[in-house]
Amino acid sequence: MMQYGRILVIGNLLATFAYAAVVPLSNSSVQNNLIDETKSHWWQTASFYQIYPRSFKDSSGDGVGDLRGIAEKLPYLKEIGITATWLSPIFASPMADFGYDISNFYEIDPMFGTMEDFEALIKKANEVGVKIILDFVPNHSSDECEWFQKSVDRDPVFENFYVWHPGKIVNGTRKPPTNWVSIFRGSAWKWNEKRQEYYLHQFVDKQPDFNYRNPTVRHYMNEILRFWLKKGVAGFRCDAVPNVFEVAPDAEGNYPDEPVNEGATDPDDHGYTKHIYTSDQPETINLVYEWRKVLDDFTAENGGDDKILMIETWSEIDIVMQYYGNETAEGAQMPFNFQMISRLNSNSNAYYYAETINLWMDKMPKGRTANWVLGNHDKNRVGTRLGAERIDLLNMLLLTLPGCSVTYQGEEIGMTDVWISWNDTVDPQACNADESVYLEKSRDPCRSPFQWSDEKNAGFTTGSKTWLPISDLYRDVNVKKERGVQLSHLNVYKKMQALRHDKTIKNGDSEVKPINENVLAIKRSLANYPTYVILLNINKTVETLDLHAVFNNLSTEMEYVIVTAKSIRRVGDRAYADQIILLPNEAVVLRTVK
Ligand code: NOJ
Repeated sequence: MMQYGRILVIGNLLATFAYAAVVPLSNSSVQNNLIDETKSHWWQTASFYQIYPRSFKDSSGDGVGDLRGIAEKLPYLKEIGITATWLSPIFASPMADFGYDISNFYEIDPMFGTMEDFEALIKKANEVGVKIILDFVPNHSSDECEWFQKSVDRDPVFENFYVWHPGKIVNGTRKPPTNWVSIFRGSAWKWNEKRQEYYLHQFVDKQPDFNYRNPTVRHYMNEILRFWLKKGVAGFRCDAVPNVFEVAPDAEGNYPDEPVNEGATDPDDHGYTKHIYTSDQPETINLVYEWRKVLDDFTAENGGDDKILMIETWSEIDIVMQYYGNETAEGAQMPFNFQMISRLNSNSNAYYYAETINLWMDKMPKGRTANWVLGNHDKNRVGTRLGAERIDLLNMLLLTLPGCSVTYQGEEIGMTDVWISWNDTVDPQACNADESVYLEKSRDPCRSPFQWSDEKNAGFTTGSKTWLPISDLYRDVNVKKERGVQLSHLNVYKKMQALRHDKTIKNGDSEVKPINENVLAIKRSLANYPTYVILLNINKTVETLDLHAVFNNLSTEMEYVIVTAKSIRRVGDRAYADQIILLPNEAVVLRTVK
């Protein structure tokens, strides 16, 4: 089930202990990650970074981040080892859903700057060597989009551009056509007085859903992709993909009700129904293959590096895997791997971490590339969700697993959620709830402005106000300070990024194993190169470990390569694989010594 905001890990705790009881220590197999460097693609080992532009860097002093701010900070992305950054929407928008409600897909919102600013950003990104990826929002536009206005007016080109229905008459009263519920609460249908019909909106009512059964819509979407490709972007993060198609209407043009979930009591809650007609329709997979072809054709015609697709989907893993492509068609290089976000919580033990990671590796079709995501602008921050004491440990995990990593802005310095009062809450998902539950829904806490320094407003803006409050912790948690502290979150992150260039970490095989319920171990190995073992003590215990009990072919003599502030070891210290001691929440990278 799709949900934004606070994570509900249903049954996770139970599953954690059940798993611990039945799984033998040597369950996970070696994952062959061998990448043929002569044929490898830039994105296969890339480190991605998500920028939420409203909150990254404000250059104009209005308290909202902008494109010039991003351009100014591109060298910072280079400093922390980023290959490519995806930007949440920067297009013209009334901001009902902070840019995910687009009124013109071809214009930059003045709040973020101008088209010239965007072109300057691309130019600078090329100079610095960081690729720019845009957010593509194919499911809906803003109700202020000209296309919607024309659809309301039944302009022949746009009449069926959105999903319209006259509704049904029940006891003489007009009602919405179905019981479909918006992801942001309430009926997914809104009456339009002018057209005298309901339109579908799976998100807020200012976000009408496009009608993907109309080929003109698909053509318009492909044109949007081509427009931004010509501007020089390296690809797209595709928003709310499982929602783009709804079930086809019957011969009379009617849609079926969705079945109500057992025990559900609140018909306005998105969890009230099973979304069998509004999500994951089978046509969606082919649509993504069609987008991929648009990208590949563009590259074939114009040259340059691969262009990539990142797919936002919270679907069942077997559906997610289909987005990769099949024997005859290429799909998205990166269907986002949200397993760690949706399954792990602060009580998860090492068995459950291992199961969660290996699930993706085991399900992934042969020859595809894994990706690892721990957070984004819709979820509580990693330190808040999984434990502030685990911030380094989780960044180490993210950056040592094989394939691509995705970091949400601020996670590299250990930013945590900011508490925001009901009065200051602006996220529509929270505003549609009531005061008693808004915190469960709100995405504002993870969207607070980036903490650059200990100056006023954390160096985010020169203005006097910010669109969301700055964290109270900014004087300690900020880039400027952390640059100067040897084992700060930032410096550990940077060291990990540097290690990603190592042959073994980049191209080697991987084994992810729980050593016991507290310690997760990742072994990375490549013939003729040193082997690495990354050890993560998830809990507050002191652990004495024999790595030979879990890993074959591991030489005894090792050295510490990366340590965190939780360690008493230093880089270069010797370690012996059969007697490693880990302190509470300690995370280390060890390497075999020849
Ligand atoms: C997913 C985006 O990540 C979220 O922020 C947005 O509200 C919805 N899609 C609707 O576009």
